[in-house]
Amino acid sequence: MGKINRIGVLTSGGDAPGMNAAIRAVVRASAYYGITCLGIHRGYNGLINGDIVTMDARSVNGVIARGGTMLYTARCPEFMTEEGIKKAVGTCKYLGIDGIIAIGGDGTFRGARDLANHGISTIGIPATIDNDIASTQYSIGFDTACNTAQDAIDKLRDTMQSHERCSVVEVMGRNAGHLALHVGIACGATAILVPEKELDVEKDIIEKIRQGRINKRSHFIIIVAEGVGSGVEVAEKIKAETGIDARVTTLGHIQRGGSPSATDRVWATRMGEFAVSGLLAGKSNRVVCVVNNELIDVDINEALQMNKDIQGELYQTSKMMAV
Ligand code: F6P
Repeated sequence: MGKINRIGVLTSGGDAPGMNAAIRAVVRASAYYGITCLGIHRGYNGLINGDIVTMDARSVNGVIARGGTMLYTARCPEFMTEEGIKKAVGTCKYLGIDGIIAIGGDGTFRGARDLANHGISTIGIPATIDNDIASTQYSIGFDTACNTAQDAIDKLRDTMQSHERCSVVEVMGRNAGHLALHVGIACGATAILVPEKELDVEKDIIEKIRQGRINKRSHFIIIVAEGVGSGVEVAEKIKAETGIDARVTTLGHIQRGGSPSATDRVWATRMGEFAVSGLLAGKSNRVVCVVNNELIDVDINEALQMNKDIQGELYQTSKMMAV
């Protein structure tokens, strides 16, 4: 790979709070190192269509505090074809883009790997509220999503407590239970259903609610990760077996929005700068990862293993607290 003079930055897949902070860091680090930074719109679509703008340090004024992504995001089926990849590579060659920083989740990294295989240097930055990238302990957006869900559930708790009800809350996370587990612990849930662990509904939910009622507990919160399925069945079972009014709330895309937390802003800033430095150091086909609070980079193929289990000890603690 030759010298890096001009790079592009894009966001792709589901958005995550803190993506703007990462874009800002990439743009400002580029300015600092004296290279040109281009903003690519709508993920890999922008690379195929040439929907690209020049960015300078001032184009990212104030975005650190904003949720969403100023570059827009999209999933791009065309980029999954050889023809689409060739068009994107053609755009890079035409515009003199030597490297791409791709911010997103596993789909985004697959795209970055394809570009790297065609001679464009790429570095991925993990940004997904699912926090399901195996090679990193942290993904941008996870902390904010946890806080947003926690805030919503705290509000639900007020009304559940007044009416002595049970709240069954569906949270996002795709096929992973990291968000559900963290939110469940933070909200003092009676039970947390995650796709990674089998739960005995009778013993771990119904019996706990019955016992809770005997102990004069007024309300209950059950968290259901979307990867487990709908909360409706769970709520119906609770109603049928305990007589308690159980209501289902799906938090949905609320969890993806909002001003990023300080934690997300700081990691996004560090990751953005780290990615630019990586490209300048000649790295390619890498993903920036957090391991034991330090930034490292790993091969994209390693990041794509998608075999990140939930933290067993955290899961055990959550069950211990739910009495
Ligand atoms: O990956 C982030 C995420 O919010 C998942 O938790 C969820 O399953 C999915 O994206 C929803 O995607 P969309 O916004 O395309 O419906």
